[in-house]
Amino acid sequence: MSQAASLKVTTPHSDIAVLTFDMPGKGANVLSRGVLDELSEHLDYLEKQKDLAGLVITSGKPGTFIAGADLREFATSLDISQQQIIDLCRRGQKLFGRLSQCPFVTVAAIEGVCLGGGAELAIWCDRRILSRHAKTEFGFPEVKLGLFPGWGGTARASRIVGLGNAVEMITSGDSISPETAYAMGLASQVTAPESSLDAAIQMIRIEQQRGDYLRDRQKWSGPVDISPVELGFLGATASGYIQSQTKGHYPAPLAALEVMVESTGDDIDTACKREAEGMAALFGSPVNAALLNVFFLTDRNKKDRGVSDEKIKSEEIGSVSVIGAGIMGAGITAANVKRDILATISDVTTEALASGVRNVLEEVSYNKQTRGADPERIVQYAPLVNGTTSEDEVVKSDLIIEAIVENADIKKNLFARLEPKLREDTILASNTSTIPITQLAADLAHPERFCGIHFFNPVRRMKLVEVIRGEQTSDQTVASAVAYVKRIGKAPIVVNDGPGFLVNRLLLPYMHESLELLSEGVPIAQIERTAKRFGMPMGPIELYDMVGIDTATFAGRTMWEAFPDRIKSSPILPALVKLGRLGRKSGAGFFNYQNRKKRAQPDPQLGSLLKEYIGSSIDIDHEQLTARLFLPMFLEATRVLEEGIVRDPRDIDLGLIFGLGFPPFKGGLMFWADQIGVNKIQKMLAPLEDLGGRFQTTELLNRIIVEKKTFYGISG
Ligand code: NAI
Repeated sequence: MSQAASLKVTTPHSDIAVLTFDMPGKGANVLSRGVLDELSEHLDYLEKQKDLAGLVITSGKPGTFIAGADLREFATSLDISQQQIIDLCRRGQKLFGRLSQCPFVTVAAIEGVCLGGGAELAIWCDRRILSRHAKTEFGFPEVKLGLFPGWGGTARASRIVGLGNAVEMITSGDSISPETAYAMGLASQVTAPESSLDAAIQMIRIEQQRGDYLRDRQKWSGPVDISPVELGFLGATASGYIQSQTKGHYPAPLAALEVMVESTGDDIDTACKREAEGMAALFGSPVNAALLNVFFLTDRNKKDRGVSDEKIKSEEIGSVSVIGAGIMGAGITAANVKRDILATISDVTTEALASGVRNVLEEVSYNKQTRGADPERIVQYAPLVNGTTSEDEVVKSDLIIEAIVENADIKKNLFARLEPKLREDTILASNTSTIPITQLAADLAHPERFCGIHFFNPVRRMKLVEVIRGEQTSDQTVASAVAYVKRIGKAPIVVNDGPGFLVNRLLLPYMHESLELLSEGVPIAQIERTAKRFGMPMGPIELYDMVGIDTATFAGRTMWEAFPDRIKSSPILPALVKLGRLGRKSGAGFFNYQNRKKRAQPDPQLGSLLKEYIGSSIDIDHEQLTARLFLPMFLEATRVLEEGIVRDPRDIDLGLIFGLGFPPFKGGLMFWADQIGVNKIQKMLAPLEDLGGRFQTTELLNRIIVEKKTFYGISG
């Protein structure tokens, strides 16, 4: 065995072997090729031991059993042939399958995260014991990467927990708790933390006496126990549900369902073969590559400290004050309280404050299961919320986030009053969505301790937060803001100051283009359909209604003032505002919302109301329309990179996925551009250049084309 072994065998009793996964130098165990080889060697040895009653598989990492397969290895082999994929799956299935045929009982003693390949390894054991450790979860998240379990997970789970449970777990990719695992028969026992090893040894003794595991081995190697009627019903309902969820963009869940349904009548080995063949169609597909990229973007974000200088240490934020108890202020306060951070919330009037505090408590106490307030949570969280109208109280916190009206003078006046009362190490931040951070910092004595911390609406749902660096913001402030944003469970990206920062700057050219198309006579339904087919969660026109036509006009002004060569004000928005059609909030905008479910419905009156501004219907095909909508956003992204607004194209991709719902199955805007290739983009742009500055190629794009590079290749 190699010296830096990841697996080690001990024998706490002469007839019990314990195989512990503990990869040296890693925070979590993953199943790399090397680890699988080690497992194989250990099994070669253990299978020959005549006196063994049982083998326990466990982990030496606190909070993790096995996190899954080694995705970095996966990513380097996306171009392998279909036969190689099948071989890879078959090898894994056969290796893990040995755990179901050993001449002794095999038990997985699971404490902490047990996911993907780790869950497959565990499910091949005769028995599983799950510890009630806070981090324990069991799941097959492969569909989130565009795959399904290919080391026997689909075949074995269907046979152990029944087809319905297996389909639900595998096609959703969601993890289950130890209690749920026990209820569905996946776990044989749930134990207190740190006692799963003893429980496993005891279980081996009982199994040896009763021989139940041998009967289960027999049963689980045959077909799935399900009647044809049940099978037909399950197949049809699950397929309908999956199609409504994935909208045809994510093929893996449906492929997993098909494999599982089709192999119910097979023995386990035939089911495994089908599983491997099914995987061959998914592994290395564009969706798989894109979703893997999203995984790496998220991973990179978790490690990114926001500054490159390793000597800079972030300051701990123990308390936060939020000024302004409106929509954003209440959302930001709740996000803090939910992570047990003491939060002070303030407003100018007691009415506004009371309403804000009520909203905070409603949100933190919300229980998804009962769909209402949970009194226990109110008792738990209420002491962490401090409502006040006194600025003297606000200044005591480590971090102060301003979320008052979007007016530069009012904000600057507030900062002028607060700054003299702040401690030397207090960080002051603004949640402004449009005002430059450098402008807001102009009169501060300590602009280095000021930055933007820009949350998205609704705060509860949106993971992205832009940390905006003004010209004088210090590295220390940026690092502390980044660490704080992570602490409240959000994904921070560091953005340099500039109009619209990152996300709004890229959103606006896309939304603006939809109005241009509308005024040329492209029907709203066609614009919306194209955007959704591309994968956006809603069309740009409906998005106008959601943001609010008045707010969008205001935000648009920042952009057309900054970039008059490519964005101009459209007369359509002021016309709607004049008609009182402000979007969803007023019951009508481009669409009508006065229906029972408040859904966006086409409004037959709209055409006549806007007839002055809308051209007669023109013919434009899907591909042209896609180019019209998404290339202005893409070109703006290349300018953002040229200007150094973000440090890496990956920040753009993460920002758009988490901030705008840009389709994860495309891997991000710049990843998408790299996949289709810059030469193709250049061809798509050529017929559009006459439309004006917004379709002009940029220096960076030209450079990438000439140097035959990719956006991801220029950095990282
Ligand atoms: P809002 O109008 O819901 O709330 C603002 C609150 O601030 C009001 O309760 C008001 O009474 C209070 N306020 C005004 N002046 C104050 C002062 N001097 N001291 C204390 N409280 C004061 O506004 P909203 O939507 O929450 O926006 C707040 C900030 O967040 C703005 O800068 C906005 O641009 C930004 N933002 C808004 C987003 C949105 O979608 N609504 C998204 C991201 C940022």
